Amino acid sequence: IHDKFKTFNKAYFVACGTAYHACLSGANILERLTGIPTFTQVASEFRYCDPIVDEKTMCVFVSQSGETADTMAALRLAKEKGCTTIAVANVLGSSISREADHTIYTCAGPEIAVASTKAYTTQLIVLLLLGMYISQALGNENEDYKRIIEGIASLPQHIENILKDEKTFEHYASYLKDLKDAYYIGRSLDYATVLEGALKLKEVSYVHADAYIAGELKHGPIALIENDITVISIMTDKNLVEKTVSNIQEVITRGAKTLVVTNQNIDDKMFDTVIHIPETNTFISPILSVIPLQLLAYYISKEKGLDVDKPRNLAKS
Ligand code: G6P
Repeated sequence: IHDKFKTFNKAYFVACGTAYHACLSGANILERLTGIPTFTQVASEFRYCDPIVDEKTMCVFVSQSGETADTMAALRLAKEKGCTTIAVANVLGSSISREADHTIYTCAGPEIAVASTKAYTTQLIVLLLLGMYISQALGNENEDYKRIIEGIASLPQHIENILKDEKTFEHYASYLKDLKDAYYIGRSLDYATVLEGALKLKEVSYVHADAYIAGELKHGPIALIENDITVISIMTDKNLVEKTVSNIQEVITRGAKTLVVTNQNIDDKMFDTVIHIPETNTFISPILSVIPLQLLAYYISKEKGLDVDKPRNLAKS
């Protein structure tokens, strides 16, 4: 496939649920590293939207189980249309890996809980590595690649440090347990992360949660903000911090309670709660910034006495 990368004029990333959120990050990174125009689509839409794809399109299908029906149907459609298909799957020998032209395994181990947290972490890493690999295959040398690889190697230590902070998250959960609604905001890669954070809160804590691109707040969602509404933000891109801070200021003015996850130097006093995570390369930051959001959903679920691993109405393939 190495020589084929030069022939692609378009890339599609297709998946469902959590895997789709990993696609949003992976697609953003691939486009920025390679300049290949890149699109994302949920599998249940891709298969019915008559996508404009052909033999010059690379299609990446991401699935933990490798069996999700919509993702499989989308893969078959892409193959029919002559695309080169790459599966990113966790389960060895799964249907998707048997039918795709190429497969990269995430090797996250067996998935027990529905929430798919470790699958998400590994999907983000594989998609980042894929983006760098394709970029190099196209002849782009980037000084940052060595630092990104070093950053990936230091992830276990950073993740362990965040996980150790159990007491802090238990404390947040104790005062957020009666939460009815939560709004998440972020820009660029942080937007994919807030979508995943909101999904976790819905899935395991049964709290209504919505995620918005921070810049879109003023175009409608701001009407929902009133006293004591909780707004959770992620800010990991130094070029976008100022913009997102000004969006948060708008919700503070309307009485919102704010929780911020960041790896940037911000004025903590402006917000109700700030969770600091280690600073890393922008492309690695989604792997770390999602963890506080997963922990929040986990501890709120626990505080409410719910079964975190088996949310109602959800099934795993
Ligand atoms: C189900 C699960 C989600 C999962 C999605 C995609 O809806 O509840 O947690 O993200 O399927 O699963 P896959 O195995 O294709 O990644």
